[in-house]
Amino acid sequence: MTSEKMTQIFEAFVKRDSDRFHKIAWEIIEAEKRKKHHLLASQLKRILTENSGASNINHIQQIPPIPRDNEKGFRLLDVKKFFLDWDDVILSPNTEGVLKQIVKELENENVLATYGLKPKRKVLFYGPPGTGKTLTAKVMNSIIGYPLVFVRFESVISSYLGETASNLRKIFDFIEKGKWVILFDEFDIIGKQRDDSTEHGEIKRVVNNFMLMLENYEGDSVIIASTNHPHLLDVGVWRRFDEIVYFALPDKERRNKIFEKYLRVLKKDKNFDLTKLSEETEGFSGADIEQACIDALKMAILSGKDFISFGDVKEAVSRQEKKREAKKVIKYE
Ligand SMILES: Nc1ncnc2c1ncn2[C@@H]1O[C@H](COP(=O)(O)OP(=O)(O)OP(=O)(O)O)[C@@H](O)[C@H]1O
Ligand SMILES: [Mg+2]
Repeated sequence: MTSEKMTQIFEAFVKRDSDRFHKIAWEIIEAEKRKKHHLLASQLKRILTENSGASNINHIQQIPPIPRDNEKGFRLLDVKKFFLDWDDVILSPNTEGVLKQIVKELENENVLATYGLKPKRKVLFYGPPGTGKTLTAKVMNSIIGYPLVFVRFESVISSYLGETASNLRKIFDFIEKGKWVILFDEFDIIGKQRDDSTEHGEIKRVVNNFMLMLENYEGDSVIIASTNHPHLLDVGVWRRFDEIVYFALPDKERRNKIFEKYLRVLKKDKNFDLTKLSEETEGFSGADIEQACIDALKMAILSGKDFISFGDVKEAVSRQEKKREAKKVIKYE
């Protein structure tokens, strides 16, 4: 190891910069391989992959250094792994059907290939806030099994607009290095900024840039973009995706299931009327119902009960209703 590399790896360790530490460690391994020190190189590689946090994410795939924004040094993305199943998200049969078909195509990629067909890989999720778009991306990541690359748009959008384009480039360069489920969450932030008249030309260029990168992407990863402002997106966006999945607010039957799911932790009072709750919560999103259930559970638990009453949930629901009214309502249909 050269004295320069030794200094760099010490600095990375002291600064707790794990990305940089890994980058240098891999450079050292490569250098040892070039010197034909194969035993040492494989020993170092084993230590790095068996004991690092990165290997917890995926044993097979090495995580390349996470790209950062030049201006502030923020991470542009996170790599995560979830362990969820279809039961963890309650969707309309139609939405669930479309999603399961996407996964089935990916699982049977080889079969499709023999007929010259390819699975869908670029998917747009749209629908009102709190309807399970982000949660579904996590479920799909769990089932497909590739690590989830969570793109942090607040870091991607730089106050120096030239930098935004360079950040997008860095993300796509990272994506090329592996097989991932990539979530461009709340992706409308790019679209929203197009209305900024002062920087209109520059923003438009960035949006077009992103669309072009998306269109040109031909790798094995799955790209999911999610938004709750579809009308803000450039019309050209739609045709760049292989599938567009709408996440509706839950209907009565779905609301019933969501209440059931989030109230599972406590026994219910004898006269608990789940059907009535579902009927009275029209317009609630999954996230609204979850929040009401959490509030009700806390109330019950902290008042020393080991069961939950209908009244507890009714009260939490009406509080959630007031919060919803306070929020700006966005019309979808
Ligand atoms: N359909 C659903 N089934 C089960 N839980 C749900 C559902 N929708 C929302 N939730 C609960 O609400 C939380 C927030 O939902 P999520 O972040 O997935 O919504 P979203 O559609 O991505 O919203 P936004 O458009 O605001 O990003 C979830 O983590 C989950 O706990
Ligand atoms: Mg979301």
